[in-house]
Amino acid sequence: MPNDSRDVLARVEAEKLVYLEELEDFLRIPSISTDPDYASDVWRASEFVLDKLRAAGLTAERIETAGHPLVYGEWLGAPGKPTVLFYGHYDVQPVDPVELWRHPPFEPTIEGDKLVARGATDDKGQSFAHVKGVAATLAERGKLPVNVKFLIEGEEEAGGHAIDRYVREDGGKRLSCDCVMISDSSLFAPGQPALIYGLKGLAYMEIKVTGPNRDLHSGTFGGAVTNPLNALCEIVARLRDSRTGKVLIPGFYDDVKPLADWERQEFARLPFDAEAYRAELGVPELVGEEGYTTRERTWARPTLDVNGIFGGYQARGAKTVLPSWGGAKVSMRLVPDQQPDKVARLFTDFVHQVAPPGVVVEVSNLHGAEPVLVQAEGPLVEAAMAAMADAWGARPVRIREGGSIPIVSAFSQVLGKPVLLLGFGLTDDALHSPNEKFNISHFYNGIRSVVRLLDRLGDVSP
Ligand code: BES
Ligand code: MN
Ligand code: MN
Repeated sequence: MPNDSRDVLARVEAEKLVYLEELEDFLRIPSISTDPDYASDVWRASEFVLDKLRAAGLTAERIETAGHPLVYGEWLGAPGKPTVLFYGHYDVQPVDPVELWRHPPFEPTIEGDKLVARGATDDKGQSFAHVKGVAATLAERGKLPVNVKFLIEGEEEAGGHAIDRYVREDGGKRLSCDCVMISDSSLFAPGQPALIYGLKGLAYMEIKVTGPNRDLHSGTFGGAVTNPLNALCEIVARLRDSRTGKVLIPGFYDDVKPLADWERQEFARLPFDAEAYRAELGVPELVGEEGYTTRERTWARPTLDVNGIFGGYQARGAKTVLPSWGGAKVSMRLVPDQQPDKVARLFTDFVHQVAPPGVVVEVSNLHGAEPVLVQAEGPLVEAAMAAMADAWGARPVRIREGGSIPIVSAFSQVLGKPVLLLGFGLTDDALHSPNEKFNISHFYNGIRSVVRLLDRLGDVSP
C-alpha cells in the first residue's frame, strides 16, 4: 500500500491555524513590484520568504539581481530520489481601484472561508502552501522523500527579467531537477483540479502621441492641427477589426500554430456554460474572433487589448481643450509560436505606418513573455496527478490558460523537464482585481497536495 502521508497530514491539521496566521503576515507586506515606491516592501517580502525557508530546515539565500531579489532554497538529503523545483512569486499587482476594496488590500480579512487581500491567491497563498507542505513534512519526519529546491521571484508581475537571466545563466546546473512544480493558477472548477499545459505569451506596448507644445483652446486652434487624442483613437481603431475579432497588424498571425483537431475536441468535451459565464461577467453578449469558441479564444488564440488610454481633460464637466498629447497601453496575448520581440516590431511598424500626419508617435515595448506549451507526460506527471486526486478527490483535467507566467518557457527550454502547472485557486478569486481572495480551505488543501506530491514522487525513480 502506498504511503498515505497520514503522519504529516495529521500535523498539518493540528498546525493549520498557525500556517494561516503566517500567511496573513506575508500578505501584510505590500510587495508591489511594478511600482518603485514599494521597492523596500518587495525586499521585506523576500526576507519573509527567506526566513520561512530557513525555518522549514532548508539552506536558503537571497540572490540579488538588477531588479528585485530572488530567493533560493534547497534540501538535498535524498540521494537517488527525484528532485522537485518549486517556483512561485512573492510580488503582487497594484491595488487600484482601491476604493472598491471592502477592506484595505494589505490588511488580510477573513470572510467565512475567504481570506481577502492582495496576493492572497496570486501568488503568496499558493506559493506559501508549497513552503508549508515541505516544512510540515520535514518537521514530522526529519527528512523528505525527495530532494527539493525553491526559486521564488519578486517581479513576476513586472515581466520577470531578473529570473529569466538567472535561469538562462545557470543553464540547469544549480537548478537541475526532475520536474518543476508551479501553483499560480486555478482549479478548472470547484472540486475539479486542472493541469495547465499551455500558457499565453505577452507583448506589452505603450503608444505616445504628441502634438502641440501645450493644451490649446479647441475653438481658436481646432481645425489647424492634428489632435493627438483623435490620432491615437484612429491608430487604435486600426489595430483590430471588431466585426471579425481579427488583429489587423500585418504578419501578426504568421507564426500562430493552428489548433489541432484533437485539442478542439478536448476543449469541447470540458463543460462550459456560456450563459452563466456571460451573466457572471455582466456583459450583454460574448464576442470574439470568428470561427472559434469562447474557450478556444481565451486559451489558444492570440488577442489584442487596450489596457488603458489617457490624456486630455478627465475631470468633471466640460472643458474645451485640444490636448497636447495622449497615450495608450496595448497588450497582445500570444500563442505558440509567436515571438514577443517579433510581434512588438510588427506592432511598432504598423502604428507608425497608420499614424496620421501632424503628430509625433513613439512606441515602446514595456515587457514580454514567450507563449509556451509544456511537456506534461511521464511517471512524475502521473504521480503529481495522483497526488492532486488524493487531495481534491478528482484527477486534474488537462487545459490551457490565457494568462502568462513569463519564466515557464525558460524553465522548459533550459531544464528540459516537465513543468507541472497545478494551481489551488478558484476562477472567482479575483486576481489582479479588487477584493482578491483565496479560500482558506484551498490553502490547506494546497498544503495537503504538496505533502502528497512529495510522498508520491518519492515512490518514482527519477
Ligand atoms: N498567476 C498569473 C498568471 C495566471 C493567471 C496563470 C491565471 C493562470 C491563470 C500571473 O501572476 C500573472 O498575472 N501574469 C501576468 C504576467 C505579465 C505581467 C507578464 C499576466 O498574465 O498578466
Ligand atoms: Mn501569479
Ligand atoms: Mn498575477
